[in-house]
Amino acid sequence: MTDAPTTPKPEKGGDSEPVPYAGPERVFSGVQPTGNLHLGNYLGAIKKFVALQHRHDCLFCVVDMHAVTVWQDPKRLAAQTREIAAAYLAAGIDPSKGVIFAQSAVPAHAELAWIFNCVARMGWLNRMTQFKDKAGKDKERASVGLFVYPTLMAADILVYKGTHVPVGDDQKQHLELARDIAGKFNLDFAAPGFFPLPEPLIKGPGARVMSLKDGSKKMSKSDPSDLSRINLTDDADAIAKKIKKAKTDAEPLPDSVDGLANRPEAQNLVGVYAALAGKTDAEVLAEFGGQGFGAFKPKLADLAVDTLAPMAADMRRLMDDPAEIDRVLASGAAAARDIAEPVIADVKRIVGFWG
Ligand code: TYM
Repeated sequence: MTDAPTTPKPEKGGDSEPVPYAGPERVFSGVQPTGNLHLGNYLGAIKKFVALQHRHDCLFCVVDMHAVTVWQDPKRLAAQTREIAAAYLAAGIDPSKGVIFAQSAVPAHAELAWIFNCVARMGWLNRMTQFKDKAGKDKERASVGLFVYPTLMAADILVYKGTHVPVGDDQKQHLELARDIAGKFNLDFAAPGFFPLPEPLIKGPGARVMSLKDGSKKMSKSDPSDLSRINLTDDADAIAKKIKKAKTDAEPLPDSVDGLANRPEAQNLVGVYAALAGKTDAEVLAEFGGQGFGAFKPKLADLAVDTLAPMAADMRRLMDDPAEIDRVLASGAAAARDIAEPVIADVKRIVGFWG
């Protein structure tokens, strides 16, 4: 059985040097409608979306096709999709600047994902650490969709020729794969520069928010302990209580960033403060260095409540008016389809499909 065509290694300066993408810049990102949207999703992703919308063409997707790679209650999925759209709006995305839509409303994602399933190699997907984490010990019982999740993610981005992808640190490996797929497609089908190699936008405070109960674990939607995360729907009392109960060590905060080494909980709380305040860790430590957590936690709680409680209230208000969210999602889907359809038509021609 042959793997052909394999990606030839381009010789430096030779004819096969990859041709750079010459199209316009476009930002794409997505969030899964799997419930329990939390502070990590906000700081690692959604907060960045809000900033980017002013400077770039942006698409912000609710990736419901990714969500069903693990079981979702069909009675709740559409409401969960509206909830992510509500979070985008409440966080400050203006739908006239950033297109907000549901992935399943644009069939071109699935069409391109199939072609990418035929471009990506088993070996590439076998290396994905998120599949290993999510599938757990019983890999045989994981859905096939969960295994090919990253090829759909590559299709999400590339069906819009997305050039920049704001995400948290946990998506880094998936984005490297998206770049590999784009490069291999361009080479295999002799379509130099057809797809851009999308750039991850990860750096900055908030790229990896950790559990409030264990500084070595990522804050996660699926952590059984609700005290481990601040949900975007938490009210002021819940936010303050969770920060008060957050795990810490016994030392005061250090004066410099070096002093955070080997202090995961301290590092996390300082990082969260920095991300919420739009400061660096060093600036936060210049203010709070030498103080104990008894003094720092109430300040962090005030900052978190000031930022998140109005957003939670806005999300609740929006969720009470699903028809308004549906209008945003419908017009976003139409705008997204307008961009994706010519791209998938070109892809079909390049691949050699009939018609
Ligand atoms: P999802 O829904 O798990 O998470 C949404 C976004 O939140 C970020 N994130 C975090 N950031 C910092 N600290 C944390 N503890 C934390 N937890 C989650 C994630 O990195 C992500 O940016 N595969 C994606 C969704 C997706 C996508 C895409 C993203 C599908 N297609 C195309 C970008 C482009 C995911 O599971 O996100």
